[in-house]
Amino acid sequence: MIYLDNSATTRPHPGVIETVKRAMENYYGNPSSLHQKGVEAENVLKQARKVAAQYLGCKEGEIIFTSGGTESNNTAIKGIAFQYQNRGKHIVTTQVEHPAVYDVCKQLEGIGFAVTYLPVDREGRVSVEDVKRALRPDTILVSVMHVNNELGTIQPVEEIGQWLKQYPKVLFHVDAVQGIGKVPLSLHDSGIDLLSVSAHKFYGPRGVGILYKREGLIIHPLMMGGGQEAGVRSGTENLPAIAGMAKAIRVLEELGKDEAGRLQSLNQRLREGIERIAGCIVNTPQQGAAPHIMNLSVPGVKAEVLLHALEERGFLVSTKSACSSKANEPSRVLTAVGIERDCALSSLRISLGRENTREEIEQFLTALEACVETLRSFIKPQTVPDRRK
Ligand SMILES: Cc1ncc(COP(=O)(O)O)c(C=O)c1O
Repeated sequence: MIYLDNSATTRPHPGVIETVKRAMENYYGNPSSLHQKGVEAENVLKQARKVAAQYLGCKEGEIIFTSGGTESNNTAIKGIAFQYQNRGKHIVTTQVEHPAVYDVCKQLEGIGFAVTYLPVDREGRVSVEDVKRALRPDTILVSVMHVNNELGTIQPVEEIGQWLKQYPKVLFHVDAVQGIGKVPLSLHDSGIDLLSVSAHKFYGPRGVGILYKREGLIIHPLMMGGGQEAGVRSGTENLPAIAGMAKAIRVLEELGKDEAGRLQSLNQRLREGIERIAGCIVNTPQQGAAPHIMNLSVPGVKAEVLLHALEERGFLVSTKSACSSKANEPSRVLTAVGIERDCALSSLRISLGRENTREEIEQFLTALEACVETLRSFIKPQTVPDRRK
């Protein structure tokens, strides 16, 4: 099987698996225990925090270990909402956020917060001017993702953050789950107060992630208990997973900047190949998108049908984002971008990772062409819309 679903999750790096195993075998003490086994475990935790802080370019005390992207987003958004609700109850976000942001905002609306969901352009990008216009005296938080998980579009977070620096009481959260290791982002230049990361998107274990929280910023903790993670996230730390995540960060460092270039060249080949197949449309913008995500549609062909046809030929891809792919509704993200229902319902996401090769891309394009040719012979011509010229 050729795995082209790296935005859903990645296959853990062998070094990560080894690190998790060794941590389970050797560092089973509770980092809060005072005896030798506890101290050993605490040292592993400290080392992991150092690796994460160096990678993100922040202080060790600014790293909070969580159970992944969903928890980091919930902790950031609800943590700010509950802490600063006396200052204001207005939040600004976009229509294309992952449900771990979007649905949190919907939940907050249900308990009296006001949320502005900013629209995006045809490429899925929010306008900095719209963010500026949306700000109100009672705005306490702006939350904008770095890289969109369905389209790959990169949001102008650096520009938004720069501009927000003049409003220190408006906090800035970035869901960086899809961008880490693929698209560079400077925490400080972007004036980011809170940033969410998830290890399983970059060859680490699932169920572990990071919330970067700027030093001195107080947020209301969602988890109360033993006061771990500076009181922001109580609960005995998942040490093996945290150690595995630190190893995955090392893997990213070893892959280096060249990896983004390598993925970009695979992406370019993928785009050219898809555009040459009759009936295929590329939804991901040509410029300003991450190198590992390619969204395409074959109008008239149901996405699941194409997905399974590709699977039969040995290729694993996604419909929408993996988290919401079971519902038979067009993607909220593609709808926000202005893609018609029929086209959105036929959309597939191909997402690349460190193990994918040029040869695999060639094989995939051959398989895609064959599948589309077979499936399109079942479509009535009038059901094929002509869109996005
Ligand atoms: C942009 C984005 N945010 C958040 C998440 C959720 O992360 P996790 O699976 O670690 O909870 C995902 C996962 O697909 C994502 O793509």
